[in-house]
Amino acid sequence: MDALWPLIRAGLFRFDPETAHTLSVKALKAGLGPRAALKPDARLKVDVAGLSFPNPLGLAAGYDKNADVPDAILGLGFGFAEIGTVTPLAQPGNPKPRIFRLAADEAVVNRFGFNSEGHGAALARLQARRGRSGIVGVNIGANKDAADRIADYVAGIRAFAGVASYFTANISSPNTPGLRDLQARDSLKALLAAIMVARDEEAIRVGRKVPVFLKIAPDLTEEGLDDVAAEIQASALDGLIVSNTTLSRAGLSDQVQAKEAGGMSGKPLFERATTVLAKMRRRLGGNVPIIGVGGVHSTETAAEKIRAGADLVQLYSSMVYEGPGLPARIVNGLSMLCDREGLGSIRDLRDRTVEVWAGKTLA
Ligand code: FNR
Repeated sequence: MDALWPLIRAGLFRFDPETAHTLSVKALKAGLGPRAALKPDARLKVDVAGLSFPNPLGLAAGYDKNADVPDAILGLGFGFAEIGTVTPLAQPGNPKPRIFRLAADEAVVNRFGFNSEGHGAALARLQARRGRSGIVGVNIGANKDAADRIADYVAGIRAFAGVASYFTANISSPNTPGLRDLQARDSLKALLAAIMVARDEEAIRVGRKVPVFLKIAPDLTEEGLDDVAAEIQASALDGLIVSNTTLSRAGLSDQVQAKEAGGMSGKPLFERATTVLAKMRRRLGGNVPIIGVGGVHSTETAAEKIRAGADLVQLYSSMVYEGPGLPARIVNGLSMLCDREGLGSIRDLRDRTVEVWAGKTLA
């Protein structure tokens, strides 16, 4: 597959990005994805929030929105897969076109707006895979027209508590008007309180407290980060995901697709997302799990997220450019890094550069 990737990529890039994405999901569903023959490496195992991750690299939300292919994703070598964002009711999302490749920058702009088949469809697929191994997180959101957005997140917890390895409450998509307002202090307090009550009630029913992560935007100010950190510390939330896509267009050479509305991801997001990650690690101290995401495209960038304070790492956009062999290459690369640096555990990297990153100014 690695040798064929340039050809496959050229073929896929002849299609508009959404069609290419649909084709790639179909290919995975048909069993055409590469199966990574990764040797288990105990040094890459990470225990976080009561879960044991075989390696620290996961696929970020947004690729498998409706839980079509979580097992095929795990088969590529990822240590975990996050499905969603799922909304309670099926909704179409924004009109097409709504995803754009910025190939010269290895970036993506999307304004999908939570196209979702709804809770029922994703739940049925996850119930059908019950009993299989592998960590599959469920990323939950709110319908665009929801009268009560917090109630939509609570509905997500209630629907998926029996099948989710963990939850992500996504309050940071820039493509649902007003959604990011849930990051404001009072709204966040109310949201976290409601989610944690639902999680604890469901724990009695399903026999397990499902960990909940909160996914934030990279566009928060220092004061916004202070507020989020304070509310996390006051709640029983299990961890944080930093970050979603950005409204910024900093660092792009492309001036055409860059003008499209939506959230930008990929290589140019690395700097900002890693800075915010380190700033949150500094605010939260050592014990709150953080998943670092944004611009990871190599072993070195995955390792740097960990050095900047991440326990786990996710990627999405770089798969568009590097192909389905990328996760296995990164995970093998992390094993080689452990060899080279004589690490007993990949966790030994954590926080080594947190002060350098946290000291950067948010532009
Ligand atoms: C996303 N992302 C995303 N995040 C989320 O929480 N729910 C979602 O539904 C989506 N949808 C989505 C679609 C597309 C096309 C992209 C490119 C991204 C954001 C994603 O999970 C991740 O946070 C960012 O893309 C940053 O990581 P990368 O892509 O730079 O590795």
